[in-house]
Amino acid sequence: PWRMFEALRRSEPVHWNPEPDGGSGFWSLTRHADIVAAGRDSATFTSEKFVNLEEVDERQAEIRRSMLEMDGPRHLALRRLLSREFTPRAVAGYATFLRGLTGRTLDAALAKGTFDFVAEIAADFPINVLARMLDVPDGDTRRLIDWGNRIIANTDPEYADVLLNSAESERYRDLPFRSPASLEAFEYGRELAARRRGGEGTDLISRLVNQTPIDGEPLSARDFDNYFLLLVVAGNETTRHAITHAMRALIDHPEQAERLRAEPGLMPTAVEEFLRWASPVYHFRRTATRDTEVNGTPIGAGDKVVLWFASANRDEAVFADPGRFDVTRGPNDHIAFGKGGPHYCLGAALARLEMRIMFEELLPRLSDVRLAGDVRRVRSNFVNGIKRMPVTVTLA
Ligand code: HEM
Repeated sequence: PWRMFEALRRSEPVHWNPEPDGGSGFWSLTRHADIVAAGRDSATFTSEKFVNLEEVDERQAEIRRSMLEMDGPRHLALRRLLSREFTPRAVAGYATFLRGLTGRTLDAALAKGTFDFVAEIAADFPINVLARMLDVPDGDTRRLIDWGNRIIANTDPEYADVLLNSAESERYRDLPFRSPASLEAFEYGRELAARRRGGEGTDLISRLVNQTPIDGEPLSARDFDNYFLLLVVAGNETTRHAITHAMRALIDHPEQAERLRAEPGLMPTAVEEFLRWASPVYHFRRTATRDTEVNGTPIGAGDKVVLWFASANRDEAVFADPGRFDVTRGPNDHIAFGKGGPHYCLGAALARLEMRIMFEELLPRLSDVRLAGDVRRVRSNFVNGIKRMPVTVTLA
């Protein structure tokens, strides 16, 4: 998509995309400055009408609304329930666990010589971390991974149980995400919640069910369901793809990998470049609450407005030579997690730490790594995903 984004940034940064079937269409924002401004102004550009390109009817919206699709005091109250658990300081408490997990994952995978980087290294790592934060039993982690795949990348036939917009999905009208996977996840989360209510646990589920966020009321069952599912899906594929894209970038730019190996102190800077380069989330969407304008282009009340984070991360107005992958790039004002608005990624510090530890452990173990077959992408306009990446490694 990079050439298309570049052309739009240059000649039509606020671009109208008519829906192919004559539906409602949407605006595409492709410049960094416009996207950041819209993301900060949730009074004008709301998330309440949902945040992906698909239309969500009211019934669906009611069943599956999480804080991601809320604005104002309720969003804030829900976010506050866990914001302290995701600060850089709080997540630093997982560093030892992360290093152990990373080491075990890598030793098992690298011993194979040739293997699929996604399946053996990137796929299960983020969800294992989350499983730990939620304190789910080890044996259940696979189920979380499976739900995450089936719910988010549901435009990829390999994962989907139901294609969202197909006639078939009418049968699943009353299921969250129109997907049986989400119902399974809800039931699972509720069972854990029931067992932890009133307890002393410090895991995320205990925190959620034992606080009183809104007017002295505990979290409703529905708010809990959607919070739980948001946690399971939000950090799963995103981090997986960030790690895989980073590996691929280092394979494609061996001199950068060398540099990083020689100067491990560059890792935090490199992680920012990994995130910019990967842009694991192509977009989130907003809806205009009133007639307004962006960059001189009028936008009508009710119009959908898509924030193309991936395009912002290659904006030549912000990044010198944006098509160059550079682990020493600084400043690096990428917006892979959004920027500054109320919905700024809750898991940003965690994702950064996961990526840093992954590559701190990976690079010293390898003397060479190369592609060993075709790289397969996830079919999606939402996640910039790689689902298979065969590699051959030589151990250091
Ligand atoms: C929100 C990206 C990892 C949890 C977001 C948003 C982006 C994003 C762009 C903003 C949504 C919007 O503007 O509407 C990413 C990327 C990740 C990542 C690229 C990995 C590289 C994680 C992790 C977690 C997480 C590890 C932890 C569970 C969340 C949550 C929100 C969010 C809960 C919603 C916040 C809100 O609505 O207030 N993420 N994310 N993310 N992310 Fe992440």
